[in-house]
Amino acid sequence: MAKRLEDLAPEGLLDRARRGVVLVDGVSRVRVLCHYDPDGTTSAAILARALMRRGKRVHATMSHALDAAMVERVKAEPNELLVVSDMGSAQLDLLEPLPFPVIVLDHHKPLRDSERVVHVNPHLFGVDGAREMCGATTSWTFALLLDEANWDLAGIAAAGAIGDKQDLGGFVGSNAALFAEAVDRKVLVPERRLALRDRPLAQALALSISPYFRGIGGRPDQAEAFLRSAGIDPNTTLRQLDPAQRRRLTSVLATRLVEQGAAPEALDVLVEDRYWIEPDQMYAQDLEAYVNSCDRLEQMGLGMAVCLGDRDALARAEALLDQYTNRVLEHLRTLEREGLFTKKHIQFFYCEEASLAGSVAGAGIQFYFDQSKPVFGLSVMERQTKISARGTRSQIVQGVDLAAVCREAAGALEGDGGGHNIAAGATVPKGREEKFLTLVDDLVGRQVSSADA
Ligand code: C5P
Ligand code: ZN
Repeated sequence: MAKRLEDLAPEGLLDRARRGVVLVDGVSRVRVLCHYDPDGTTSAAILARALMRRGKRVHATMSHALDAAMVERVKAEPNELLVVSDMGSAQLDLLEPLPFPVIVLDHHKPLRDSERVVHVNPHLFGVDGAREMCGATTSWTFALLLDEANWDLAGIAAAGAIGDKQDLGGFVGSNAALFAEAVDRKVLVPERRLALRDRPLAQALALSISPYFRGIGGRPDQAEAFLRSAGIDPNTTLRQLDPAQRRRLTSVLATRLVEQGAAPEALDVLVEDRYWIEPDQMYAQDLEAYVNSCDRLEQMGLGMAVCLGDRDALARAEALLDQYTNRVLEHLRTLEREGLFTKKHIQFFYCEEASLAGSVAGAGIQFYFDQSKPVFGLSVMERQTKISARGTRSQIVQGVDLAAVCREAAGALEGDGGGHNIAAGATVPKGREEKFLTLVDDLVGRQVSSADA
């Protein structure tokens, strides 16, 4: 029997969200602002579909930051209601004075709650927003309160959660409950398999970023030699292998990842629970990959169109995915060859493409960088330097919190920073990189040693 939403998400969170539904019902137009990454873009698509279903006109924008300039821009528009998703919890000060009501659907750890803004954040209700609910699942929960028909948006929400790496090791908490119900309702179909694209295997291995195979990524010839030495035909696809061959391939790839020093969670990436989205006829993992490459190449609107089921947009997104993959592979190969810079407690690299630094840092730390130190990818831009910080689960257990590190170090340098303990970022004025690195090295050192004590 179908479960009720009350059995799947915390009551307090649903109560808050119901207050948002009342606001939606009082207006004819809704302004939507979301973070620019896959979690934010899928949130925007979910909100747009759900609000249009409810007969509302919608104007959605994805943006890198919710800063004073962005808030001024929406303030100058004749808005009746603003919905912010996958950001906003850290910007309540900016949102509260707005002359129209505001709903925030965020999962970043809030510094405080709000009286004025309808503040829907899992952290406020005992749910870990870093693992158990993302911006897209929070937005989708809101959509489910608007209309039960929105169960058909489960796949888009799953793509958002995958974008924020909440599927690693399997969904837990509210994510797990909501997606299990979507499986029962036949919107999602789970399938356990190797995380490789449906291409001839040598190509699939050489094109793979997650997992990234050291010595093979970006090098089809090396991939071919590796497969032949394992007794596997490099020209077959995963689907064409029989179960015994599939098992052998899984085992040689797992061994390879262990040998190259990957984090234990990397093995969770190698064999993954893929989710087939019945209404969209594609895997949630692939939807996330398309949206991610659109976002990273600054075409967020295209990513949103793919989520909304636009087939022309999909064809263009496929080309962007290839372009994005090749650029990330190029950076990962360069770092393999040249190595990273190190300090006592951190490692770092420079990446001239700011939008790729996070992907490079994330794949690097998971698959082959030194596992003992978190990594910082720095992109020196015209006036600012953007930093992406990434860690591993074991570093978090040792006390590392990269959001706190980025917030403190950037805050001390007239910049800003934040994010999640395992994946965070910062922006500092250009020229402050050395100072930033010295500060974060010291902060990480202190986090690790105070956790020891
Ligand atoms: O840009 P990147 O993907 O590395 O960002 C990782 C995380 O850090 C995101 O959750 C982002 O919202 C956060 N971040 C932040 N402040 C910044 C840059 C990034 O809170 N200045
Ligand atoms: Zn998010």
